Amino acid sequence: MDKFLINGPCKIKGNVTISGSKNASLPILAATLLFDQTVIIKNLPRVKDINTMLNLLKSLGSKIILSKDKRTAKIFNKKKMKTFASYSMVKTMRGSILVLGPLISKYFKSKTSLPGGCLIGARPINYHLAALKKLGMKYELRDGYILAKSKGRLKGANIKFPNISVGATENLIIAATLAKGKTTLKNCAIEPEIKDLTKFLNSAGAKIKWSGRTCLINGVNSLNSTEYEVMADRIEAGTFCVAATLANGNLEVKNLRPDVIKTELDLLKRTGAIIKTYEKKILIKGPKKIKPIKHIKTKEWPGVATDMQAQLMVLMCKAAGKSSITENIFENRFMHVAELQRLGAKINIKNNTAKIEGNTKFIGAEVMSSDLRASVALVLAAIVSNGKSHINRIYHLDRGYEKIENKLKKIGVKIKRIK
Ligand code: EPU
Repeated sequence: MDKFLINGPCKIKGNVTISGSKNASLPILAATLLFDQTVIIKNLPRVKDINTMLNLLKSLGSKIILSKDKRTAKIFNKKKMKTFASYSMVKTMRGSILVLGPLISKYFKSKTSLPGGCLIGARPINYHLAALKKLGMKYELRDGYILAKSKGRLKGANIKFPNISVGATENLIIAATLAKGKTTLKNCAIEPEIKDLTKFLNSAGAKIKWSGRTCLINGVNSLNSTEYEVMADRIEAGTFCVAATLANGNLEVKNLRPDVIKTELDLLKRTGAIIKTYEKKILIKGPKKIKPIKHIKTKEWPGVATDMQAQLMVLMCKAAGKSSITENIFENRFMHVAELQRLGAKINIKNNTAKIEGNTKFIGAEVMSSDLRASVALVLAAIVSNGKSHINRIYHLDRGYEKIENKLKKIGVKIKRIK
């Protein structure tokens, strides 16, 4: 298993180009199952989760031609597609559940594995299933699989999600695109990745409109061929902005519209970072002394992203004073805390709130990654630690950060991948 060796503390200076968004690419790729015509998706990030989704599409019968740089996929679907998403495919990436909506909508049946829990929480899919049922999907759960079918095309309906869910909103939007008649989805997640999905579908002739948290979908019979460029990864960008703030760095973050991380940039400004935004780049200068923020709370967009919580915690460890972070999205997303403590952090957890002492002098140590964002938090802490840190199990990082060691090396981090 690969690991990283980081020799801290490191200075951060230079520029970094942000890759395409993993969490926008996944639903867009799943939605290509709705098409009879060729689709071209550009700006895919070269990360493991995208390979997993492409392999899943291939296993269902899609033909995929990747460009030389592997960022563009040309996708055509066979006349006869398979509708079986196996456990081995779904268990490695929960995002695979996003094929259920398009399979049932386009092929009227599917056998899709239940994803199971994961380290950050139980992550059930009850909202996906209940809402798809309202569109006419019949299903039973047997042997760990969702056996689903519908009598022909799904039928538009009025649906209100009991709670905001990114995945359920995406699955339903994709399914309703080819349903008969109108669908109204209320209490939707409105993360930028979801808006990117609806922009993609509309570029192919779908009829989707937004009004606040309500999504109005007028079902169409079929979609046209289209070419679409996925948005940039706001969490990757946010992670690099935290790195610059944390290490008193000076960084140019390129290739992303700053408005997608406005909330997080506002937080970084409050810690003392000097930030200038342009149409497609951010200039960020970290402060000498990081100011603590009393209460950070993760929330659905436009709140502070849960996918930035672990990185912000490292920043608060280095702040000159006490702070707290409340995690409101996932029930168990503090796996990084014990590992940060091994590097010297003083953090106390009570229910879903972490109380952080601040003024931490991180000392390099051997630590272990548990999930994608927890792993990147350990990388950030190692960058500002004294001495060597070994970060084990970095396959979690490879799932969602494109060649992170190359990007970090370029801006001054002494990092090495050990095979
Ligand atoms: N939930 C349910 N029932 C459902 C669906 C969700 O109870 O049917 C709960 C979840 O357990 C969780 C909350 O609702 O407590 C929110 O979950 P959501 O459905 O919004 O999350 P997701 O779709 O599973 C996506 C991202 C995550 C990101 C969350 C929140 C993808 C592929 N994944 O997950 O990304 O943290 O939204 O923004 O888009 C990551 O990239 O590291 C990552 C975990």
